Amino acid sequence: MTLGESIPSVARIGQGRLSRRVWPAGAVNGENGDVVMGGVSLTKIAAKFGTPTLVIDEADFRARCRHYRRRIPEMEIFYAAKASLTGPVASWCEREGLSLAVWSAGELALARSVDFPGERVTFHAGANTAEDLKAAIEYGAGRIALESFDEIEQVATIAPYGQPVLLRVGTGSDAHVVTEAAGRVLARRGLRLIGLHCHLGSQVLRVAVYEEAVRRMLGLLARIRDRHGVVLGLLNLGGGHAVPYRAHDPEFDLGGFGGRMRAALGYECERHRLPRPQVAIEPGRALIARAGVTLYRVLGVRESAGGRTFVTVDGGTGGNARLRTARLIGRHAGPVLREVTVVGRNAGVDDVPVEVALPLDVRAGDLMAMACTGGCGLSFISVHNGQAGIAAR
Ligand SMILES: Cc1ncc(COP(=O)(O)O)c(C=O)c1O
Repeated sequence: MTLGESIPSVARIGQGRLSRRVWPAGAVNGENGDVVMGGVSLTKIAAKFGTPTLVIDEADFRARCRHYRRRIPEMEIFYAAKASLTGPVASWCEREGLSLAVWSAGELALARSVDFPGERVTFHAGANTAEDLKAAIEYGAGRIALESFDEIEQVATIAPYGQPVLLRVGTGSDAHVVTEAAGRVLARRGLRLIGLHCHLGSQVLRVAVYEEAVRRMLGLLARIRDRHGVVLGLLNLGGGHAVPYRAHDPEFDLGGFGGRMRAALGYECERHRLPRPQVAIEPGRALIARAGVTLYRVLGVRESAGGRTFVTVDGGTGGNARLRTARLIGRHAGPVLREVTVVGRNAGVDDVPVEVALPLDVRAGDLMAMACTGGCGLSFISVHNGQAGIAAR
């Protein structure tokens, strides 16, 4: 930990060393204020590809996949594609032994582009068209997660025989409704109910939230057994593991999670006299957020009447973190930092004003690198007002 991380106010002086907590493992300071990532200069990447550009550090992503597998070897780990998916990312998941959770036929097509094995894919049916659902079945998705009676009906109608499905429920779901949904799935020859799924939200820091989910989900598994006489063998606890967006932000305790999940499962299974289900999780940002750095060009700097400084950049700032870490690159910036609000070009529904500390002398034309943007930035892209850029490349 640097001095700036342990005493946040000191971080206001100088851009300094790159904190490992938010920058990719392979990022280091280069010459003349540059940052080098995986051996490649970010200034050169911006010169070659223009801005905005999202740079993903393969080694960082893959190391995090391995870390998850080592820490919780008994769980099946699905990378949540909605955090950000490209063909290479899908292939890194495949090679690191991760499974893949996808939300659309488009994400499925990326999986297909690298021959991702269908049996390791969970397709989330929510908000999909009949074509997307067909694509999932044709792909041989190992599981389809269903979250409404309509989806049960739609998939049952097109699935030829015994498509494995999960019921996605809220931890607060009415047990009556869940057992009724289970009954409807069990009644359809096209479907085979294999387990339950829940997702507890984003930036979840407390392991206790997952312990509580285990308690409730095991209760639901027991209700389904009592009502229908079937014991479901799979529990998917979704994603949501918190990641630090600033160097001093707290982080999800993965080791603690593993230990406490084992204990909670043991206890709840004994209480309900159920065999221990196979547990799966679906982290997205926890695997990819820190591997990604977005390069922007500063378009302008202005002071508001209220004393805030706004820095406009040439890309969108979609995503779900409002406090982030950024730095100017490619020149020696002044040593004193101040909090500014970065606003993107999509000044509409999906741009989030982002608070970062930047040198006092930030100015139009500066190149800015924003850390921890591997998650959600890419998947939230939209092109407003006829802007060229991303759409044309
Ligand atoms: C069902 C489900 N699983 C996994 C995720 C991934 O969440 P995160 O990136 O916070 O881990 C999401 C995100 O919204 C989700 O809805």
